[in-house]
This record gives sequence, structure tokens and C-alpha cells, in this order.
Amino acid sequence: MKITIGSDHGAVQLKEEVKMVLKEYGDIEVTDVGTFGTDSVDYPDIAEKVCGDVVSGKADRGIVLCGTGIGISIAANKIKGIRCALCNDVFSAKMSRQHNNANVLAMGGRVLGFGPAGEIVRAFVEGEFEGGRHERRVNKIMALENK
Ligand code: RB5
Repeated sequence: MKITIGSDHGAVQLKEEVKMVLKEYGDIEVTDVGTFGTDSVDYPDIAEKVCGDVVSGKADRGIVLCGTGIGISIAANKIKGIRCALCNDVFSAKMSRQHNNANVLAMGGRVLGFGPAGEIVRAFVEGEFEGGRHERRVNKIMALENK
């Protein structure tokens, strides 16, 4: 699996921690689009880079991080083809894959610690879309992009 990850200055440490979790799998190719320091950057620019990789097919999934996860998830969901789920707990992350076929996970670096964030990432990576009635609903979500 290929995953592109990015964060603003509010989640640089969490980004490194998430990369450590992804590395444990051994077969996940990670692309990090930054940011790499504590200088202030604008989270919509990071969302655009990560989601660009998902929409183009360069990445199977994306992970976007900012201070709260809120701004970057809102930005990500403006991009056609993106279903970004802001998850602060494992159950939501699991459901975001099973029911919503989320292709991007958002989290907040000022909200979550390393332990919970790692479990959320694992649930997102390992979760499978259930299809069936959920497929009809996800198709309706995607149709909203053209209304
Ligand atoms: C940046 O200070 C902060 O606003 C950003 O990381 C995020 O929390 C926005 O939703």
C-alpha cells in the first residue's frame, strides 16, 4: 500500500510518530510532503498535496494532520474524489473504512497522543470497506460533488 502523509506546523511531531507506526508494517510505501519544521504553513496547501496524490492514484490513501485535524479535514473534503475522516478514536477510524470507504484520515497533533494516534492509524490502514448498502450511500456522497 502507498500512503502520502502531510501536516502543518501543528502536527510535525505526530507526523513522525505516524510514520514510525506505518514503518512497522514493512510493506507500506510512505511519501511525506512536509512540512518539516516549526515555521507556520497553511494547512490547505498540505491537504492539496496529499489529496493530489490520492486522486491521481500515486497514493492509495492519505493521512493529513494539523493542530486539531479540523481545518485540514475540511480542506481535504473540498477536493473531488476525497472522503476524509477526522478521527480521534479507534471506533470512528474503523467505521470510516467499513462504512464510508474513507481514503484520507485526518488527526490533530494537539488533540491526540502517540498511543491513541497509532491505534487509529492501524484501524484506518487495516479496515476494509464493507460495500453493500454502504456503497449506495458512498456513491450518493460522491454524486454531491457534481450538484
Ligand atoms: C494552526 O495554528 C492551526 O490553526 C491548525 O493547525 C489547525 O488546528 C486548524 O484547524
